[in-house]
Amino acid sequence: MSGGVYGGDEVGAIIFDNGHQSLRVGYGGEDSPKAEIPTSLGVWEDATENSDSNHVGKKRYNIDVTAIQVRRKDMEIVSLMKDGMIEDWDMFERLAEYTYKQRLHALSEHHPILMTECPWNTRVKREKLLELMFEKFNVPAMYICKNAVLAAYANGRSTAMVVDSGATHTSAVPVHDGYVITQGIVKSPLGGDFITMQCRQFFEEKNIELVPACLVASKDAIREREVPRWIRKSGSQPTASWLSYMVRELLQDFQMNCLQVSDSPYDEDVANALPMKHFEFPTGYNDDYGSVRLMIPEALFDPSNVKGVGASILGVGPLVTTSVGMCDMDIRPSLYGSVVVTGGNSCLQGFSDRLNRDLATKTPPSMRLKIISANSSSERRYGAWIGGSILSSLGSFQQMWLSRQEYEESGKIILDKCA
Ligand SMILES: Nc1ncnc2c1ncn2[C@@H]1O[C@H](COP(=O)(O)OP(=O)(O)OP(=O)(O)O)[C@@H](O)[C@H]1O
Ligand SMILES: [Mg+2]
Repeated sequence: MSGGVYGGDEVGAIIFDNGHQSLRVGYGGEDSPKAEIPTSLGVWEDATENSDSNHVGKKRYNIDVTAIQVRRKDMEIVSLMKDGMIEDWDMFERLAEYTYKQRLHALSEHHPILMTECPWNTRVKREKLLELMFEKFNVPAMYICKNAVLAAYANGRSTAMVVDSGATHTSAVPVHDGYVITQGIVKSPLGGDFITMQCRQFFEEKNIELVPACLVASKDAIREREVPRWIRKSGSQPTASWLSYMVRELLQDFQMNCLQVSDSPYDEDVANALPMKHFEFPTGYNDDYGSVRLMIPEALFDPSNVKGVGASILGVGPLVTTSVGMCDMDIRPSLYGSVVVTGGNSCLQGFSDRLNRDLATKTPPSMRLKIISANSSSERRYGAWIGGSILSSLGSFQQMWLSRQEYEESGKIILDKCA
């Protein structure tokens, strides 16, 4: 079965871009995803369903922003991802079912699906995904593509050094002519979640109680740094994982609104001169924040001063130079000439400018350095998804789809068609 069949306007392809923070999903050809759904689910056991002999409760899942906010004393928040890859297939299946039905209002058997994967995804996991989508979801056609390659496409490049800073890690992935150069991949565990953890530590040291908005019934308006006066919503005591997830959301709000990457290595005087930013917590506690706004994100570029971070962990600049250094001499200039910045954590104000500066001091003067970072933060956050949207609507791509017929005739070997 050849393409074209899938490429038409009537049966648009669906693009799934999976990450630790969320699944971005929508139709090929569109500018941005239709929905962004957390890839952490609420998991609990339904005791009312255990009437059969073995008394084991049935596992229940609460999916999407509103349902995971529901407070149950027995509901844990669990991520379905691990190290950039799908780990819990049952949870992924439920999330995909929910996505088709509740967010896309589409039937999986009507739309080809393009899925992103991290550059270090394993063969076993790719096969599992292929099997799940063809056999359980009955998709008519499918394709799996590396997220770094798609982020490069989204920025108009097929050769690039892709710097992806997401929730759980930051990676430097060299892409050449649309293929990942596997031996050049370098990553660090310093991403948005690490910044969140540093923020949490900062507030805990200051004895500021971190209470998510969904636990606050009412609060008084108070002056800066006054002890907050607020009333807790009644209800059962949530699990530690639920509380931690909700607090993470609150801290991400602080991260997005207050933090900024210093344009040169951290300097106390510069940091102290930075204008203060006001932040109010859900309890009503509020304060102005200054130097900490630069200090916390500094760890991404220079982890050497952070407690508990080993010397082997690289800042963003060295991730790139190390990665380029592992690639063939011939292509190094084209990698430095297209450093694509993507991922939610790269939306921190000043991220690209600092990377530019750190790399400029490390690259030979003869090497042209160009940092490519989309203007809007949504384009940076959705880089891989947007690349998938573009790819799936190219006429020349239509012959690339792995069709159901091919799957039925040849089985998983057809995966070799996906780079
Ligand atoms: N505007 C913003 N400013 C600062 N940080 C942001 C912004 N938007 C998102 N983030 C951070 O980006 C991170 C999520 O990034 P992204 O959506 O790329 O992750 P992911 O792809 O789901 O995760 P991973 O790449 O680890 O699998 C979170 O830590 C979030 O706080
Ligand atoms: Mg990601």
